[in-house]
Parts: sequence; structure tokens; C-alpha cells
Amino acid sequence: MSTTSEKYTAETVTWVHTWVPGKLFSFRTTRHAGLRFAPGQFLRLGVHRIAAGKPDEIAWRAYSVVSADYADHLEFFSIVVPDGEFTSELVRLKAGDTLLVDKQAFGFLTLARFEGGSELWLLSSGTGLAPFMSILQDPTVWQQYQRIVLVHCVRESAELVYRDQIAGLTDNPLLAELCKFHDKHMVYIPVVTRESGDGMLHQRLPVLLGNGELEKAAGLPLDHDRSRIMICGNPEMVEDVRKALAERGFRTSRRSAPGHIAVENYW
Ligand SMILES: Cc1cc2nc3c(=O)[nH]c(=O)nc-3n(C[C@H](O)[C@H](O)[C@H](O)COP(=O)(O)OP(=O)(O)OC[C@H]3O[C@@H](n4cnc5c(N)ncnc54)[C@H](O)[C@@H]3O)c2cc1C
Ligand SMILES: NC(=O)c1ccc[n+]([C@@H]2O[C@H](COP(=O)([O-])OP(=O)(O)OC[C@H]3O[C@@H](n4cnc5c(N)ncnc54)[C@H](OP(=O)(O)O)[C@@H]3O)[C@@H](O)[C@H]2O)c1
Repeated sequence: MSTTSEKYTAETVTWVHTWVPGKLFSFRTTRHAGLRFAPGQFLRLGVHRIAAGKPDEIAWRAYSVVSADYADHLEFFSIVVPDGEFTSELVRLKAGDTLLVDKQAFGFLTLARFEGGSELWLLSSGTGLAPFMSILQDPTVWQQYQRIVLVHCVRESAELVYRDQIAGLTDNPLLAELCKFHDKHMVYIPVVTRESGDGMLHQRLPVLLGNGELEKAAGLPLDHDRSRIMICGNPEMVEDVRKALAERGFRTSRRSAPGHIAVENYW
């Protein structure tokens, strides 16, 4: 059930899943029938500041949508920032509680950002995985690209979330036929920076780009004609990765001048 005001709708939380207690969780809400977004975009979410003792105030923050644009619910993936104004409220929500959702979606981390290319690289750190989960449920991405490389860089292996959903992506009936008959492939590369062992990559993404390890793990070289690259998460990671790619001649996509790279900074 959702109710509306001029700028936002009041949605009901329907499901909460804790991945790492005190740090990472996902949740779903009802979705207003009028809400439209493109996979990769974000919505502004609002919570009453009850924990802060100011229930009449609303804190708003941007959140990438995890769920598919065709799903009848909304799903989000969140960090818990110690003493964070917004997440201290958000983490207390349970099924049946209310979350405010802005009616307008924003952001340019979408497939429309690129022209051409046949291989899509999705590079994320931490909760920056979120928009890629929505993009990967979109049949358009599988029509447009022959190869997809999804990279998720986290501190510890417990933070490698959504692994079952990633492994099961192409079981989605909307994607299964498309992938099977057109030989579409996705490579998932988990990266863990504060643990080593069990064969996973464990350096930061700019290092792995510099030493060729990321391309080796993907089984694909980065290429100006074929590769289109999305980067999402920690702004320092985004900037360092963008610099490493710029040194190799990859350019950021602008509305007036399509390029190879599209980014979203989370703070
Ligand atoms: C376009 C956009 C999309 C976003 N999408 C998401 C999302 O899907 N999931 C999500 O959890 N957050 C997302 N964020 C961040 C989110 O808007 C808030 O910053 C986050 O909820 C923390 O709010 P807060 O008030 O508790 O702390 P804030 O006062 O907002 O942040 C305090 C500090 O916490 C750290 N921080 C903030 N967000 C994160 C994060 N996601 N991961 C690690 N450290 C962080 C930074 O150091 C920041 O300076 C997004 C931000 C932007 C701009
Ligand atoms: N409640 C808790 O117990 C707890 C504990 C820890 C953190 N937190 C919260 O979580 C936040 C951190 O969340 P997070 O771990 O998802 O995000 P993060 O600090 O951005 O780390 C995510 C990944 O990005 C990498 N990274 C960071 N800066 C980079 C750069 N410049 N270039 C390339 N890679 C980079 C990190 O590598 P490195 O490992 O090398 O940095 C890590 O692998 C903190 O701000 C804090 O609010 C909470």
C-alpha cells in the first residue's frame, strides 16, 4: 500500500535482510504504480528522525535501486554508518514501517550513457554494487553487450553480498533464452582487500588494473572500441580507477561527447 504527497510517496517496508550485523542490510518496500526509473538510477529516501528524538524532522538520502525496473516492489542495499543521521534511523525499520520515497528518479549511471561497445565492465566497491544489480536484471543490457564483467571490491569476504542472486541472474525467464541462444556471458570477480587467501583477488582496483590482474581474471582485455565501463561506490575509489583508466586513454562519457566511462559517487 502506498499513499502520496506532492513530492513523495509513503511506502511500507515489506522485508529486511541483514547481511553483516551492524554494517550491511537490504530491504524492500511497496512501490507506487506511478514511479518510473531507469536501471542504475537512484531515488531519495526519507525517514522520520525518531531515534534522534525529532520525529517531526525527515532525513533524506540518495539510494540506488537494486530491484528491476519491472518489479512491483523496490529493493535497496544499505551501509550502517556509525552515528549516521540517516542510517541510524533506517537500520531500525522493520516490516510494516513507513519509508518515504521521492517520486523523481535521478542519475546518469545508465546504459543510455554509452554509444557502441560490446563488453560492459561494472566496477563497484561496498554498497556501490546496488545499481548494477538492477542493470543486470534488465534484458536490454544482455541484448546490447556480448560480455559483462561484474567486479565487487569489499574489505572482508562476509561483505560479498548478493552472490546467490548474481549466480542465478540468467535463470530469470526474461534473460534465460536471450543468454542461452546468443552466447552471452557474465564473469563475476569478487575482490577482498583486508583478507587474503582462497584464490580471490585482494588488492584495490586501481592496482589490479595497473598490474593486469583484473583483465586476467576476466579473461578479457580492456579495449577502446569494445569496453564500456561503469564505476560506483567510494568516491576515492571512483577517482583512482578513473585516473588509472584515463592513463590508458579511456574517456568519461558526457552528454555531448559519449565516451567509455560512467560513474556514480556515493558521498
Ligand atoms: C547517488 C547516490 C546513491 C547512493 N546510493 C546508496 C546505496 O544504494 N546504498 C547506501 O548504503 N548508500 C548510498 N548512498 C549513500 C547514502 O546517500 C548515505 O550517505 C548513507 O545512507 C549514509 O547516510 P548517513 O546519514 O547515515 O551518513 P552520512 O552523513 O550521509 O555519511 C557519513 C559518512 O559515511 C560514509 N558513507 C556514506 N555512505 C556510505 C556507503 N554507502 N558506504 C560506505 N560508507 C559510506 C562516508 O564516509 C560519509 O562521509 C548513495 C549516495 C549517493 C550520492
Ligand atoms: N559498524 C561497523 O562495525 C563498521 C565497520 C567498518 C566500517 N563501517 C562503516 O562502513 C564504512 C565503510 O564501508 P565499506 O567498507 O563498504 O566502504 P569502503 O571503505 O569504501 O571500502 C570498500 C572497498 O573499497 C576499497 N577502497 C577504498 N578506498 C579506495 C580507493 N581509493 N581506491 C580503491 N579502492 C578503495 C576498500 O579497500 P581497503 O580495504 O584497502 O580500504 C574496500 O575494498 C565506514 O565509513 C563506516 O561508516 C562500519
